[in-house]
Amino acid sequence: MIYDIAVLGAGAAGMMAAAAAASRGGATILIDHAPEAGKKILISGGGRCNFTNLDTKPENFLSANRHFARSALARYTPRDFLALVERHRIAWHEKSPGQLFCDESARLIVDMLLSECRTSGVTIALSHEIRHVERGDHFITSTNHGDIASRRLILATGGLSIPKLGATDLSLRLARQFGLGVIETAPALVPLTLSAPLSELAGVSLLVTARIGKTAFSDGMIFTHRGLSGPAILQISSYRRHDGAPLTLDLMPGADARQSLLAQKKARPRAEPASLLSVFPQRLARHWANETFGETATTLANVPDRQITELADRLRAWTPEISGTEGYLKAEVMRGGIDTAALSSQTMEARDVPGLYAIGEAVDVTGWLGGYNFQWAWASGRAAGLAA
Ligand code: FDA
Repeated sequence: MIYDIAVLGAGAAGMMAAAAAASRGGATILIDHAPEAGKKILISGGGRCNFTNLDTKPENFLSANRHFARSALARYTPRDFLALVERHRIAWHEKSPGQLFCDESARLIVDMLLSECRTSGVTIALSHEIRHVERGDHFITSTNHGDIASRRLILATGGLSIPKLGATDLSLRLARQFGLGVIETAPALVPLTLSAPLSELAGVSLLVTARIGKTAFSDGMIFTHRGLSGPAILQISSYRRHDGAPLTLDLMPGADARQSLLAQKKARPRAEPASLLSVFPQRLARHWANETFGETATTLANVPDRQITELADRLRAWTPEISGTEGYLKAEVMRGGIDTAALSSQTMEARDVPGLYAIGEAVDVTGWLGGYNFQWAWASGRAAGLAA
C-alpha cells in the first residue's frame, strides 16, 4: 500500500498533523519508535500539560525569521485548541494569566489527540524504529517492521531535549539529507550553571528581573546546587549566546534599592547589617551581608553610606559568571533546528522538496515558557496536515 501521508513522530505536532491530514481523506500513517504516543505531553506542565497560552503572539518565539510563525499561529489559535479541548470535555483552568492547564491529567490531551487520529482513520504505528528514508517515486521509510511508502512525508520528531524520553536528531538528519538548512541547535528553557555555584543557597527562591541585552523577564528564580533555575532563568536562558551580552539579574525589581537601603539605615541605625536585606529569604540576606560588610560591622551605623549604595547597585545589576547550562538532560526545549528559510510559512512544505514537510520543535521556532511551544506544535501540525 502507498499512503498519501506518513508522519514521522507521534508527539504533539505529529498527532495534530496526522489527524488533520486524515480528516481531509488522505490515507495517513503516524510512525513513532516509542511504544506510546506523546510522552513529552504526559510529563508536561508537572503532569497537567500547559497546553496553550491565550496571549500567544509571534513575539513569544525565537527564530532566525521572527515572522515565520505568524501565519500558522493566526490560522490555528489558542481558542481553536481550547475549543477542541472543550469538545472532548476536558476540564481546564487558567493558572498564570493566559496559561491553560488540564485540571486532571496531561494524559487526557494525549487521549484526545489519539481519539482525533482514530476518528479520522489514521493508522498508528508505534514501536517502529526508523532506519532510513529514501525518495524515488515516493518516500520510502524503512523501519524494523518493513518499508512504508508515502506520497508525502511530514517530519515531526521534535527536538533534542530529554533524550531518555526518546528524543533524537532524526528530523534534523533527514532535513540535511534532503538539502534543507539547519540552524545551530542548543538547549533552551534550561537551568544555568555558575562558575562558582552558591550551593549553600540551594533551594532559596526570590523574584528577579533577568536581562540579556534588551530582553528581560520578571519572574521567580531559584538557586540550585550547580547554578540558577526558575521561570525567569529558563526564559532568559533561551536568549543566551556564548559570545553575547552577559546575564544581569535585578534582585530587587521595581524597588529603588539605594533609597530603600539608606532609609533603613537611617530608621534603624542599631540594627545588624543583614537586616537591611530583610526583604530577602534569610539565607540569602546573610550571604550578601557577609560578602559586603564582612564580620566586622556590627550595626548599620558602622556601615558607610558608600558601602550601602554599592550593595544596592550590585543587587540591581548582579552579573554572576555563567559557566554553561544543564544541557539537553534538563532543557525543556531545543533552540534552532530546521531553517525556516527552506519552508513555506503557509504549509510547512520544503520549498525545494515537494511533498516534504517539517513541523513542531524540529523547526527553528522556539517558544517561551508558558504553553507557547505546544501552541506552535498544534498550529504548525495543523497547517501541514491540512496542506499535505
Ligand atoms: P515531541 O517531542 O512532542 O514529539 C516527537 C515524537 O517523535 C516523540 O513521540 C518521539 O518519540 C518521536 N521520535 C523522536 N525521534 C524518533 C525517531 N528517531 N524515530 C521515531 N520516532 C521518533 N511546552 C508547552 O507548551 N507547555 C508545557 O507545559 C511544556 N512542558 C514541558 C515539560 C518538559 C519536561 C519538557 C521536556 C517539555 C515541555 N514542553 C512544554 C515543550 C513541549 O513538550 C515540546 O515543545 C513539544 O512536545 C514539541 O512537540 P513535537 O511534536 O515537535 O515533539
